[in-house]
Amino acid sequence: MIIAVACDHGGFPLKAKVIEVVRATGHAVLDLGAFSAEPSDYPDFAQAIGEAIQQGRAERGILLCGSGVGACVAVNKLTGLRGAICHDTYSAHQGVEHDDMNVLCLGARVIGPELIPELVRAFLGARFSGEARHLRRLGKVKVLEQAARRGPP
Ligand code: RB5
Repeated sequence: MIIAVACDHGGFPLKAKVIEVVRATGHAVLDLGAFSAEPSDYPDFAQAIGEAIQQGRAERGILLCGSGVGACVAVNKLTGLRGAICHDTYSAHQGVEHDDMNVLCLGARVIGPELIPELVRAFLGARFSGEARHLRRLGKVKVLEQAARRGPP
């Protein structure tokens, strides 16, 4: 797979480790910045990852900020993007298997570099199960997404 990787300044300290692990697991990296630890805005990088996935330039994304919260909030505003903060390996693979999560959000100020290989491998090694109950729930999530695009009733 091609994996889009991005971060703001809060996530920057762990971005290189994420890229190293993605490559070591046999995937290609689309590095969308940031390219320095200068202050930056996480929604810009959520947008970059979102567009890469929407346009088919990447299949999944990994987005880092300080806590993972801003990254997660921003990425879930984008059509077709399903992101979650997963600082445990169960969520990192189950989020893909059940919820078709396509963006792993990480908080570089919360976790250390030693967790990165475990989380990234769990995320990239997982596949959506395609089971009927999960497809049904995903369909309902898409209805919510479409309603949000139309605006409040
Ligand atoms: C940046 O200071 C920090 O607010 C940002 O990286 C992120 O943690 C937001 O959720």
